[in-house]
Amino acid sequence: MWSMVLFVFEWATQAPSLVDMSVPMTGKHVIITGGCAGIGEELATIMVAAGASVVLGCRDAIKADAAVERIRAASARSANGAGQGGEIEQMRLDLASFKSVRRFASEYAEKYDTLDVLVNNAGLGFRV
Ligand SMILES: NC(=O)c1ccc[n+]([C@@H]2O[C@H](COP(=O)([O-])OP(=O)(O)OC[C@H]3O[C@@H](n4cnc5c(N)ncnc54)[C@H](OP(=O)(O)O)[C@@H]3O)[C@@H](O)[C@H]2O)c1
Repeated sequence: MWSMVLFVFEWATQAPSLVDMSVPMTGKHVIITGGCAGIGEELATIMVAAGASVVLGCRDAIKADAAVERIRAASARSANGAGQGGEIEQMRLDLASFKSVRRFASEYAEKYDTLDVLVNNAGLGFRV
């Protein structure tokens, strides 16, 4: 019984989590939709601090520029001090428009060869 409790405790305390900066993201390419606010912005900050190259897909360019500045500042503060922070940029994306989605995809593909992580954070809607 106690060995089981000990096993669960050790697993829970050693398993890497998203906020664990020791999870290597250097060289990983990430897209976060709606990353200029809320959960998406927080996740972008964590990933940039962990070394990822993050593209925010945002529908409002002014909000997106402000978010990029905030993420740069916050991720630099929480990076591990070895200057291993990643890159952050924004590209225009309105998920309510297929035209915008296609334009975003081709703009991304022109600039990057790979995509390692896609976070479909924005624009979720449910009709009940
Ligand atoms: N917060 C919670 O407790 C919670 C719980 C369950 C699920 N969720 C889900 O988690 C996701 C993020 O939540 P959040 O609280 O961080 O939301 P949020 O603060 O409202 O942020 C959502 C982001 O998505 C963007 N967005 C919305 N519609 C978009 C569209 N058509 N095209 C491009 N971007 C769009 C928004 O852009 P603008 O800034 O331009 O508006 C905003 O930056 C949402 O999908 C939400 O449904 C959240």
